[in-house]
Amino acid sequence: MLGKTELVRGLNSIMPAVAQRGNARKLDHVRVGVIGVGVMGANHARVLAELPNVELVGLAEPDRGQALRIAKALGCQAVADHKTLIGLGIDAAVIAAPTHLHHAIALDCIAAGIHALVEKPIATSVDEGRAIVAAARHAGVTLMVGHVERFNPSVQALKQALEGEDILSIAITRVGPFPPRMSNVGVVIDLAVHDIDLIRWFTGSDIVEVQPQLSNVRAEREDIALLQFRTASGVLAHINTNWLTPFKARTVHVATRDKYIIADLLTRQVTECFGFQEDGSYSMRHLSVGHAEPLRSELVAFLDAIRKDGAAAVSGEEGVASLEIAIRCLNGTHAAAARKPVRRVAG
Ligand SMILES: NC(=O)c1ccc[n+]([C@@H]2O[C@H](COP(=O)([O-])OP(=O)(O)OC[C@H]3O[C@@H](n4cnc5c(N)ncnc54)[C@H](O)[C@@H]3O)[C@@H](O)[C@H]2O)c1
Repeated sequence: MLGKTELVRGLNSIMPAVAQRGNARKLDHVRVGVIGVGVMGANHARVLAELPNVELVGLAEPDRGQALRIAKALGCQAVADHKTLIGLGIDAAVIAAPTHLHHAIALDCIAAGIHALVEKPIATSVDEGRAIVAAARHAGVTLMVGHVERFNPSVQALKQALEGEDILSIAITRVGPFPPRMSNVGVVIDLAVHDIDLIRWFTGSDIVEVQPQLSNVRAEREDIALLQFRTASGVLAHINTNWLTPFKARTVHVATRDKYIIADLLTRQVTECFGFQEDGSYSMRHLSVGHAEPLRSELVAFLDAIRKDGAAAVSGEEGVASLEIAIRCLNGTHAAAARKPVRRVAG
């Protein structure tokens, strides 16, 4: 087995050749395929079909009826699996198949020199995620992870308002009713991973301490999670997420030394409190927020990274780091503690 130094030396020697291969063709016109056209993939396909200088070549989807319906509407080919899609000659792929398939599909795409946008979470385990990142680096292809919330205009307004601020704490609420179809993951992997990514992005710092509280009331996996974190830079953060709230709510509150900012990610209203006075008074203003569809902005960023051979807006490494924290939240409490029946006090 290679030692770390030898491995790095070995990689350094092949990197220039690989990077050259990745740079070899500047892609003005990008041929894209979507792998898995369920809820997310169908949306990716819809947006890709509308983007300029992009050709939606085909969709890989084992559900033939679903594949044909979407392919017909968007004017592209429908194939049963990603290997056939790769055979059609695509430059880039959006991988929106179920998460447990991301690893195998991404490795096949990358081995064929195809740039990949992998839906979040990047994989089911940190090792799988790291393998995808390493393969993309060796192949010199762009790898981006679909943490689409970063492209929500209200999140972008908040991020801008935080420039140069000394962040003290972040409190995020992401709650709602049970999803119509239960997947095999709980709220931490399905929902909180978005916010773990936001905390890391806002603070530009790694999460170093994790204090999770999980419970499952109705589902097999955790359906309530209260997660507390401390970043390396000393920011305290909190995520409240569940599938037990009858309505959807997504809010982010950030306290900095000079401001308190409240962002509603659904209504896209971002309010900043500032100018704190000793008598307790302060000023408030609504920040200007754009209207762009987050998925469109995400895909444009992915295509830009491919065309400019630049860094992906959400790198594979960042996707792995957020997954690692989510998994630590799950492991930190062993299995989600099943809720015990309420003890009745005899009267
Ligand atoms: N970024 C976000 O906000 C967001 C939201 C929802 C889901 N996701 C992620 O997107 C991915 C898909 O989730 P979804 O909700 O769209 O699931 P889904 O079940 O609606 O869609 C998955 C599709 O993949 C297809 N599929 C199964 N095996 C396949 C294979 N071998 N090759 C190609 N396609 C295959 C299924 O038939 C299905 O149509 C997951 O990784 C999920 O975590 C991200």
